[in-house]
Amino acid sequence: MRAINLHDYERLAAERMPAGPLAYYAGAAGDERTLRANCDAFARHQLLPRVLVDVSDVRTATTVLGTEISMPVIVAPTALQKLAHPDGEQAMARAAARAGTIMTVSTIATTRPADVAAAAPDAPRWFQVYVLKDRGVTRALVDEAIDSGYDALVLTVDAPRAGRRERDLRAGFSVPPGIDMPAVSAALGSTAGIDAAGFFSLMDLTLTWRDLEALVEQSPVPVLVKGVHHPADADLAVRHGAAGVIVSNHGGRQLDGVPASIDMLPRVVDAVAGRAEILVDGGVRRGTDVATALALGARAVLVGRPMLWGLVCDGEDGAAHVLELLHAELSLAMTLLGAATPDAITRDHLAA
Ligand SMILES: Cc1cc2nc3c(=O)[nH]c(=O)nc-3n(C[C@H](O)[C@H](O)[C@H](O)COP(=O)(O)O)c2cc1C
Repeated sequence: MRAINLHDYERLAAERMPAGPLAYYAGAAGDERTLRANCDAFARHQLLPRVLVDVSDVRTATTVLGTEISMPVIVAPTALQKLAHPDGEQAMARAAARAGTIMTVSTIATTRPADVAAAAPDAPRWFQVYVLKDRGVTRALVDEAIDSGYDALVLTVDAPRAGRRERDLRAGFSVPPGIDMPAVSAALGSTAGIDAAGFFSLMDLTLTWRDLEALVEQSPVPVLVKGVHHPADADLAVRHGAAGVIVSNHGGRQLDGVPASIDMLPRVVDAVAGRAEILVDGGVRRGTDVATALALGARAVLVGRPMLWGLVCDGEDGAAHVLELLHAELSLAMTLLGAATPDAITRDHLAA
């Protein structure tokens, strides 16, 4: 079967992956209520087209924090991409480059930041920061990312510990031998047999808004804060120097029972009131989902698991195809919605 949408990729990847890595990629925390909510919430929003708008020249291109991208869809940071394909993050970087968009590289990647950059030197890329107790390790990674031309830092703030991911426990998931995570090796000396709880135990739990401010002060590139739910936290993020806020519940992998991120987006947009760019992730599976997020005030969305499913099925080509599908679906949705550019999509394009 050839995948014609992102759901197909999810099914195909599930057939191909060993139980442990599949549990790690697909699973979420607790009863997985938030995981389900993220996808279900999009179905509750209804798009409301405007007609007799000239849609002869629909363009999905936009900018995020000044970087031009082909569409308002960015690759979310996901750890351990060599579990999906031997070329891991390098294949993902080339796929994002082919699609003309940004890849966000995780702190717990299986490839060094400089080596991901080398795989797609001309493409825009962001580096996702987890602040580890060993601040020297974090500093070295951030310096490497900056030196190798990353365009922004994404500070993830919703994961002082790993959520309790029961699929991992049932499948007995741990990182297989031979797969290195440079950040974790630097902190621990080795990564053999480590699980999600293990690498999250390296996190610095003392982190506060002051650390965000310090990162912003030291960083030559803009800093986004990822993992914000509460509108008051979005306001604090902006006050402490964030150039962007990513409304995210980590794909339901952290605190189970929190609202779907798309449902928190409007309140965050209102709280930030144009002082920073707002992005959202969690459950984006269709071009119409991207349109919904834009209508609710997002500048762009990030996509996590579907990118991994593409990588599992066909390496760089599979991940690139996932982005092509989203691009084609978004372009069609915009045409049918009567919005020729992403900026033309407003709350007026939603019935509910
Ligand atoms: C397997 C996996 C690993 C992830 N690793 C990270 C990570 O290292 N850093 C981070 O900030 N978010 C991480 N996330 C969260 C994603 O960046 C994103 O918030 C989430 O996947 C979006 O939901 P979606 O999978 O429904 O698109 C991970 C998610 C998954 C599924």
